[in-house]
Amino acid sequence: MLKIGVLVSGGGTNLQSIIDSIEDKRLDASIAVVISDNPDAYAIERARSHSIRTEVLPRGGFAAREAYDLALSALLKGHGVELVVMAGFMRILSRPMLEAFPMRIMNIHPALLPSFPGLNVQKKALEFGVKFSGCTVHFVDEGLDNGPIIIQAVVPVKDNDTVEDLGKRILAEEHRIYPQAIQLFSEGRLRVEGRRVFVKGGAEADSALENPVATIFGG
Ligand code: GRF
Repeated sequence: MLKIGVLVSGGGTNLQSIIDSIEDKRLDASIAVVISDNPDAYAIERARSHSIRTEVLPRGGFAAREAYDLALSALLKGHGVELVVMAGFMRILSRPMLEAFPMRIMNIHPALLPSFPGLNVQKKALEFGVKFSGCTVHFVDEGLDNGPIIIQAVVPVKDNDTVEDLGKRILAEEHRIYPQAIQLFSEGRLRVEGRRVFVKGGAEADSALENPVATIFGG
């Protein structure tokens, strides 16, 4: 069974969706360890309450990002981790992690990449005036929110949305697609060619979306 290591910094609702998917037998994987850079992350409590092993690796004490990532990769390898799952881990990974886990690190981002990389992206999407946003699960490479895209889910942006409304709508989709992406990996169904990720046996979406839905032509 695929052993995953989940990296967290905060509330851990994505971690929770992964735990729930495993417990409901929708996801065939085991969480070898949950690692946080933040000792106060609520995600740590979530892991403990499901008897999952946890480690806290604070940033302090490491002079450079590379030194931190070397320690992080050693910790993950020590727990036998085969796939690293970033779930709200607020750090950019450097070479030692990318070399230890090539195309074996996933991240989830609350926007439709390559639009709106970085932070506070629900607010940026709303302010920009896009009619759709969503979330993206992707493999991690050296760029910020840049690696090959595995799955995206799209949500509408509504006229009266607050940042919180849009954020909640996106988060619900994150909780749905992240366990799916991990399951596809665990079944060996992901093939990466350059920037493109192909899913073996994947049913592709077949219809266009529009928002607002055009009723102006009587449609
Ligand atoms: C999510 O919005 C995720 O897309 C982003 O950080 C947030 C983490 O939320 N990378 P949680 O800690 O999983 O609740």
